[in-house]
Amino acid sequence: MAKMEVKTSLLDDMIGVGDMVLLEPLNEDSFINNLKKRFDHNEVYTYIGSVVISINPYRSLPIYTPEKVEEYRNRNFYELSPHIFALSDEAYRSLRDQDKDQCILITGESGAGKTEASKLVMSYVAAVCGKGAEVNQVKEQLLQSNPVLEAFGNAKTVRNDNSSRFGKYMDIEFDFKGDPLGGVISNYLLEKSRVVKQPRGERNFHIFYQILSGASEEFLCKLKLERDFSRYNYLGLDSARVNGVDDASNFRTVRNAMQIVGFMDHETQSVFEVVAAVLKLGNIEFKPESRANGLDESKIKDKNELKEICELTGIDQSVLERAFSFRTVEAKQEKVSTTLNVAQAYYARDALAKNLYSRLFSWLVTRINESIKAQTKVRKKVMGVLDIYGFEIFEDNSFEQFIINYCNEKLQQIFIELTLKEEQEEYIREGIEWTHIEYFNNAIICDLIENNQTGILAMLDEECLRPGTVTDDTFLEKLNQVCATHQHFESRLSKCSRFLNDTSLPHSCFRIQHYAGKVMYQVEGFVDKNNDLLYRDLSQAMWKANHSLIKALFPEGNPAKINLKRPPTAGSQFKASVATLMKNLQTKNPNYIRCIKPNDKKAAHIFNEALVCHQIRYLGLLENVRVRRAGYAFRQPYEPCLERYKMLCKQTWPHWRGPARAGVEVLFNELEIPEEEFSFGRSKIFIRNPRTLFKLEDLRKQRLEDLATLIEKIYRGWKCRTRFLLMKKCQIVIASWYRRYAQQKKYQKIKSSAVTVQSYIRGWKARKLLRELKHLKRCNEAATVIAAYWHGTQARRELKRLKEEARRKHAVAVIWAFWLGLKVRREYRKFFRANAGRKIYEFTLQRLMQKYFLEMKNKMPSLSPIDKNWPARPYLFLDSTHKELKRIFHLWRCKKYRDQFTDQQKLIYEEKLEASELFKDKKALYPASVGQPFQGAYLEISENPKYKKLKDAVDEKIIIAEVVNKINRANGKAASRIFLLTKNNVLLADQKSGTIKSEVPLGDVTKVSMSSQNDGFFAVHLKEGSEAASKGDFLLSSDHLIEMATKLYRTTLSQTKQKLNIEISDEFLVQFKQDKVCVKFIQGSQKNGNIPTCKRKNNRLLEVAVP
Ligand SMILES: Nc1ncnc2c1ncn2[C@@H]1O[C@H](COP(=O)(O)OP(=O)(O)OP(=O)(O)O)[C@@H](O)[C@H]1O
Ligand SMILES: [Mg+2]
Repeated sequence: MAKMEVKTSLLDDMIGVGDMVLLEPLNEDSFINNLKKRFDHNEVYTYIGSVVISINPYRSLPIYTPEKVEEYRNRNFYELSPHIFALSDEAYRSLRDQDKDQCILITGESGAGKTEASKLVMSYVAAVCGKGAEVNQVKEQLLQSNPVLEAFGNAKTVRNDNSSRFGKYMDIEFDFKGDPLGGVISNYLLEKSRVVKQPRGERNFHIFYQILSGASEEFLCKLKLERDFSRYNYLGLDSARVNGVDDASNFRTVRNAMQIVGFMDHETQSVFEVVAAVLKLGNIEFKPESRANGLDESKIKDKNELKEICELTGIDQSVLERAFSFRTVEAKQEKVSTTLNVAQAYYARDALAKNLYSRLFSWLVTRINESIKAQTKVRKKVMGVLDIYGFEIFEDNSFEQFIINYCNEKLQQIFIELTLKEEQEEYIREGIEWTHIEYFNNAIICDLIENNQTGILAMLDEECLRPGTVTDDTFLEKLNQVCATHQHFESRLSKCSRFLNDTSLPHSCFRIQHYAGKVMYQVEGFVDKNNDLLYRDLSQAMWKANHSLIKALFPEGNPAKINLKRPPTAGSQFKASVATLMKNLQTKNPNYIRCIKPNDKKAAHIFNEALVCHQIRYLGLLENVRVRRAGYAFRQPYEPCLERYKMLCKQTWPHWRGPARAGVEVLFNELEIPEEEFSFGRSKIFIRNPRTLFKLEDLRKQRLEDLATLIEKIYRGWKCRTRFLLMKKCQIVIASWYRRYAQQKKYQKIKSSAVTVQSYIRGWKARKLLRELKHLKRCNEAATVIAAYWHGTQARRELKRLKEEARRKHAVAVIWAFWLGLKVRREYRKFFRANAGRKIYEFTLQRLMQKYFLEMKNKMPSLSPIDKNWPARPYLFLDSTHKELKRIFHLWRCKKYRDQFTDQQKLIYEEKLEASELFKDKKALYPASVGQPFQGAYLEISENPKYKKLKDAVDEKIIIAEVVNKINRANGKAASRIFLLTKNNVLLADQKSGTIKSEVPLGDVTKVSMSSQNDGFFAVHLKEGSEAASKGDFLLSSDHLIEMATKLYRTTLSQTKQKLNIEISDEFLVQFKQDKVCVKFIQGSQKNGNIPTCKRKNNRLLEVAVP
């Protein structure tokens, strides 16, 4: 919802007059009184038409809040009380809506509040223009450029704690929507002499103090600096600290601002290195040293500082040292080197420091411009903000003040030109006749300074360029000759001087009557400062620095680019840049802020009338008002004028339907305002005299009071009538409610009486009816009982009769059946006994068998021989048949199963069968071996090359090849052997080498012994007296004992046709050489897992513990 606009005017609740044009009577006193009155009421802004006068309050006022910004946003200039925001808004809106480039010219003397005003304008514009991430970044960068430039370009002076020591003009660029795109900053002549020397009570540039106070120890160490200000000759000590200024926190602000503006970390670092180098340069001191040729030479006293500077800046120490001691002059092809004396060396040092710093400052401006420049190439609208150093008068005024004041002179000039021009243009635009006004035009002073032939700057340049000895005195002489007759130039020794006896004017000075007052300039240093010479040796030394920033600051030091032409002088450079600035400003729509300083003490609440009067005079503010009032003091577009005064005439009140101008005409006729008092422009009404305006205002006030009374009267009448109507309405409502209530009460009473009477009558009637009904019911019950008894008697009698009849009928049927049966049996008895009994029996039996077999057919178990299932027997008499059938079926399915076997499988099963016959139920190891197939050759003798010799030695077919453990007779320990069984022999060979250890023909094996337990030990007994038996029997153990024993048995049987004796016993004797040793198997612990252990107990006993 749009905010409801409240139309107000500058004229509402005015303190004094908000616009000086309305001042009546107009003279200096009333002007100052008006300013003072407003200042005392915290109104620091006053208008002269569209010019804003701003008085520095020297304290923060609550008039720059975001709420204030909103209040002034999109409001007409004269709608609210005077404010810098009103001017900013006007400028911004005419830039955005009318496509007019704007410039904001802020003038006033040092400390009057120009820089603050420029920042307020920028922050207002930033607050009201477009929003969005990108736009906000641009705004932020534009705003943050201020703290950076202020740190490097501002300093405390006696006039201002934050005095701008450079001129700044900033173009803010906008797109067609009014969104900021970027900006361009131009800087004007930094007061660089401050770097090396500051007047009493003043400071060097802020940045030096900020670094020393705010940088961390580590950073200071990096810059080779110490925190103590007193260590540095370039820092004026008497006012190193400024009240209310926190250098350390400002340093953080500056670093942060540099980051936001877009300085890279290494750039920031380089900048501070240069600042540190400048500071340290001041500590280099020289001492004289006489040379043999009688020339004086200077020498650096303490080279430590020089060394540190060189380390910081990457300059060769010897190069810099030489540059401080010699000066090389190059003329045509010749190079002449002269030594520098101490004074010259100091001069060179200071020149270097000043140049380094001022070039660094210009580089900073260029770098900031790079960051804030608009990124697009679209057409831009521009708002320029000019904040230049203010007009200055010090005790000692030098070249810098001369330049600064010249600049202010030019600004005053453009102010005069443009104000008058604008005024004139407005009159022409509005078709009103223009009358000429007298005012002081300072063009003559500008001419004194800048005239190309006779101007002071031209004279200075001429002196500087002239061959021969040139000093400041020769320059003054020249001035005395050329400018003597100029009415604004004063000098003691000028031709036919009017000032011969003026002792306030020393011989070494000249005085100029500026528009803002007389300023006396010390001529000393003018020539030097204008020349701005830096010895070439120094610039070359700088160019050679191994520091990219310093190198870039001294491009002329590059020997490849030696330029013998003199660079333009400082004065002419400044003149040219001021001329460009003026040209630029003339193309834009000017907006003026004229800053006034209320006192010299930088204090709040003090209004020094004399000081203000002086400023008003030289700023020509009174003339400004007069010019503004020459024709017409007040002007206003027709619409707001009619809106404001329409209540003064019946025809225009409350609504005027026609064009606004006609309305104003009717209004003015009706009010009988004399015709010479006003004039009708094209879009505005012009009022000649403030008195007329005030009369209108008085009438308006009066009328407003009348209107207020009228409104009050009507309101009161309306209020009473409304109240009466409301009361009447209420009375009717209350009466109706009451009546309703009373009737309701009465009705309820009658109703309850009727109900009581009614209930009595109903009760009596009901009781009567009840009695009758009860009597009737009793009669009915009696009749029913009598009838029931009668019917009962009848029914029982009938039932008895029927039962009797039925008994008789049944008896007859039974007797008849018995009689019939008897008769039939007697007749057929002879046939039945002979045949029927047996036939029935056989038939029954046949039927049962048939049923049994059919059922068996369906319940047959599977064909697997190990399937134990067999259906249950159905009849007891079939018991034996059932068992026989089961046996026959099993045999048949076993045969079926065997029929599938191949020959090889048959062999395997035969072997398995043999094993079963030998060991089943005898050896505990047997059940585990049933599932293991007998493989025989566990060792691949033929494939393993290691056993080639073994293979070659055994030429028969190998039945078993396995690794067994041979038990040592002496200690019961086991040793691995290869066990081979061939058709005729048993062989034991070494497992590693395959060498045959023993070979026993099968005929010599008499017996194999083993335990009944779960172990793989077995003894092979040999025939006594045979060759093999000489070493004794073998006691072995194998993982495949069952298989080995079976195969040994079968092979022996097939070869010798004798059954091998297999003894299964837990104790047996083994022949070891001569002795017989008993091997005894006992139940052992499971200490070694499942492995049986063998131990020699004594000579006769070997004990095997089987777990
Ligand atoms: N509108 C204001 N509100 C509060 N204080 C202000 C205002 N304007 C100026 N000041 C105070 O006055 C001091 C000087 O103002 P400023 O630096 O703007 O002067 P200047 O005109 O730029 O001077 P110079 O020409 O020396 O640069 C400020 O540091 C601030 O303390
Ligand atoms: Mg300033």
